[in-house]
Amino acid sequence: MSSTAIDKLPHYYLNLRELVKLTKTPQKKLLKQLQSHGELYALPANQYGIPATVMRQYLQKRGVKFDFQVIAHANLRGGIGKTTSTVSLASRAVEYGYKTCVLDLDPQASASLALGVEASEEDALFYDLWQQPKAVPSALKQVDELLYLLPSSLDNSLLDAALQRPGDQKKAVAAACQVLKEQGFDLVIIDCPPTLGTAVISSVCAADKLVIPLANDAFSFRGLALTLGEVEAICEAFQIQSPVLHSLLVKVDKRETLSKQALETLAGNYAEYQLPFYIRTSTIYSKMLSEGKTIFANSKNDIAHQDYDRYTRHLLNIDLG
Ligand SMILES: Nc1ncnc2c1ncn2[C@@H]1O[C@H](COP(=O)(O)OP(=O)(O)OP(=O)(O)O)[C@@H](O)[C@H]1O
Ligand SMILES: [Mg+2]
Repeated sequence: MSSTAIDKLPHYYLNLRELVKLTKTPQKKLLKQLQSHGELYALPANQYGIPATVMRQYLQKRGVKFDFQVIAHANLRGGIGKTTSTVSLASRAVEYGYKTCVLDLDPQASASLALGVEASEEDALFYDLWQQPKAVPSALKQVDELLYLLPSSLDNSLLDAALQRPGDQKKAVAAACQVLKEQGFDLVIIDCPPTLGTAVISSVCAADKLVIPLANDAFSFRGLALTLGEVEAICEAFQIQSPVLHSLLVKVDKRETLSKQALETLAGNYAEYQLPFYIRTSTIYSKMLSEGKTIFANSKNDIAHQDYDRYTRHLLNIDLG
């Protein structure tokens, strides 16, 4: 058993009990399987933590692929879970053993804040690096064992003025992602600002998957329609294949009739994009935000964990059944 001191453990790792539940495998059997890939963390109260490297080998043995992919979160509507989805997905992916980089392209820098990073004057942002993608890896902040971040700050708002040539817009984010792929990353997750600027255009050109989170209000549905229209226009203008598009309903409270209506509208008009689950309302997101960590730093198995775990496994094609 690993004797890593508790305070030296990474923030993000899976708990054995959780994996027992997810795989419906008896604890003894699972423990043996995992230990064949490496030592586990010994936690208080006879619990075990699973190092990301062990988790990765376990999943690979089960046939899970770690093929490189770029997933962007965008919606022209603000305040509806782009950043929450970005950092929750990133930290859960890390727990499953994916070497993950979050690209914070929003000048509001919410993803950086949510991961506990505040960019200083000296830190290079995407705005500074888009012409020299090879410099991206050295500008990354390491947030956890397998979790990295290209931070953002207000200066990224200058990107719109700098990145004006369509050819550059097409390449900028894609080139950074290509360098990260070459550096051994499995996953790049992009947090876009709620505007139709160059960050979104360039992200659409780079993304394999684009997720549009939305809440149960008319602005969100308008945002979804506008964002889908923009993605189509971008792909046509640049003659590129569209990323796979998903809409993700967040902040769902099934007791509200509005949420029921939202689910029905989505099923009726946007069925082809709609992910087969949604994210429920929880107060844990804002609580964790104030600590600069994501919900997965806290091993309680509540609805927020369950929802973003399902989201992560769906997007990464992790079948634990
Ligand atoms: N499922 C949820 N339940 C409750 N609160 C949530 C949920 N998801 C997000 N929030 C809260 O809603 C607020 C906005 O979320 P978030 O920052 O992720 O949105 P955003 O789309 O990135 O916003 P912006 O457009 O400003 O970048 C945050 O305070 C966040 O904690
Ligand atoms: Mg945001």
